[in-house]
Amino acid sequence: MTLPFPFPRFYAHRGASAHAPENTLAAFELAARQNAPAIELDVKLTADRRVIVLHDQTLNRTTNGSGPIRGLPLAAFRELDAGSWFSNEFRGEKIPTLDEVFETVGKKLHINVELTNYASPWDGLADEVAALVKKFNLQNRVLFSSFFPTNLQITRKYLPGTPRGQLVLPGASGWWQRLAGNFMDLQAEHPYHADVTEESVRRSHSRGRRVQVWTVNDPQEMQRLATLGVDAIFTDNPLLALQQFHPTGVLE
Ligand code: G3P
Ligand code: MG
Repeated sequence: MTLPFPFPRFYAHRGASAHAPENTLAAFELAARQNAPAIELDVKLTADRRVIVLHDQTLNRTTNGSGPIRGLPLAAFRELDAGSWFSNEFRGEKIPTLDEVFETVGKKLHINVELTNYASPWDGLADEVAALVKKFNLQNRVLFSSFFPTNLQITRKYLPGTPRGQLVLPGASGWWQRLAGNFMDLQAEHPYHADVTEESVRRSHSRGRRVQVWTVNDPQEMQRLATLGVDAIFTDNPLLALQQFHPTGVLE
């Protein structure tokens, strides 16, 4: 069957995050050098309404700062070191803005932008991100995703031709996203890997949606999912995925 957009077989999750600090330019550029066809990244809005790339709700795990991110302006994020927690080799790496990522790898890679304003769902993040995608003319290279269905409805309003994938929490916790997804105009579903079965893949495909599965770093699980017919996986390790998949879509 023809699925609605020609996205690749795997996404480097938070960049090549097995080999470089997640969600940094170093991790995204490394993913490109490792021949990943696509990256995934997590975006949030600063207090002065700039879009930054950061996963957590606090600074503690991935920077040399500490405390919640809520209320901080861009300048406060830019002072931080987002590399040395991973290794000294990456000392001085910054939390990037989405503009910087688009400038650096936007023409080289497909980009899954996960809208992660889960602590402040009405903050206008999706509006700002849609405007940036337009500004950089990346409507055909970006895929939006979120655990929060309303974010995807907002991006559809601005950029109806840019694909949307609904993220689904594991197991029973995913009931809300599964329910909302039934009523939405989506091009992909993003389930947790352990929840994927032959039947779930068949159901998603029958709705004309790609199945893109997070987050898979085990080669045997990559093969299990390929056998079930999933369309793409998210992985921290592009080199491992390249041993399993050809980026243009042929299972090797
Ligand atoms: O988009 C796949 C995956 O990134 C979702 O979970 O917590 O890693 O952003 P998380
Ligand atoms: Mg993510």
